[in-house]
Amino acid sequence: MNGRVAIVTGTGQGLGRAFAKGLAAKGAKVVIAEINEAAGTAVADEITADGGDALAIATDVANSESVNNMVEQALCAFSGIDILVNNAALLSKLERKPMIELTDDDWGDALQVNATGAFYCARAVVPAMQKAQWGRIINLSSDTAIFPPIGATFAHYITSKAALIGLTRALARELGSDGITVNAVMPGATETEVNRSAARREHQMVHVVPLQSIPRVEVPEDLVGAVQFLASDDASFITGQCLPVNGGIAFI
Ligand SMILES: NC(=O)c1ccc[n+]([C@@H]2O[C@H](COP(=O)([O-])OP(=O)(O)OC[C@H]3O[C@@H](n4cnc5c(N)ncnc54)[C@H](O)[C@@H]3O)[C@@H](O)[C@H]2O)c1
Repeated sequence: MNGRVAIVTGTGQGLGRAFAKGLAAKGAKVVIAEINEAAGTAVADEITADGGDALAIATDVANSESVNNMVEQALCAFSGIDILVNNAALLSKLERKPMIELTDDDWGDALQVNATGAFYCARAVVPAMQKAQWGRIINLSSDTAIFPPIGATFAHYITSKAALIGLTRALARELGSDGITVNAVMPGATETEVNRSAARREHQMVHVVPLQSIPRVEVPEDLVGAVQFLASDDASFITGQCLPVNGGIAFI
């Protein structure tokens, strides 16, 4: 991956941070596109301190002007854009509610950031990828999009993640002849550095982990290899696929 330029969105914490570090470790130059400027800069500094190449650009993926500006800055700083990891999402900050209590704003915000934001980012990077006739777009969906847990009270989030499956397949069909692959990764419930309530932790240990073929809690590092692979030359004939990385939950 030496010399490839990768944009990873939502990179200030959690999975995005792990993906940025994982791609930088393989030699990619990484653009940290994160709404929380301080968190994004801290991750860029971590990568640089480890000998990698990273550039933090404060970005709101829900705002097309902000996205276009980030891509312009990335193109000025580097020679092109080869890899886009659409990871930014409202997740840790999203309130779980029964569907009848979801407001217009709850619904609109989840769809705008999680699904429309991924579209804005793809739309902004595709011209550079078409020019190079090489590109990798990886969308972070969720296994809940295929198998929503009973009682999840998370319809806005789950719908936004299902939209990414449609986006993945539509773009894969449209962009394959340009050498651009588009795939999705579907994590299971993954323990990030975000504090989870004792009740959520207990729910995971009782209701999620026992369903997994590998019965332990998923961590961000479990997903990094899948993203590195899908971003690489080795995955050049894989497109439109949605890869569950969830310890083998039996139902998918
Ligand atoms: N952690 C899990 O259990 C899990 C499971 C399935 C799928 N996923 C998916 O993986 C991805 C990462 O999950 P996570 O647990 O690290 O999430 P997280 O909530 O911990 O982190 C999301 C990051 O995105 C940033 N962000 C939010 N809105 C943004 C915006 N408008 N523009 C730019 N950045 C923005 C946040 O500041 C944060 O740094 C998400 O797409 C999520 O839906 C996570």
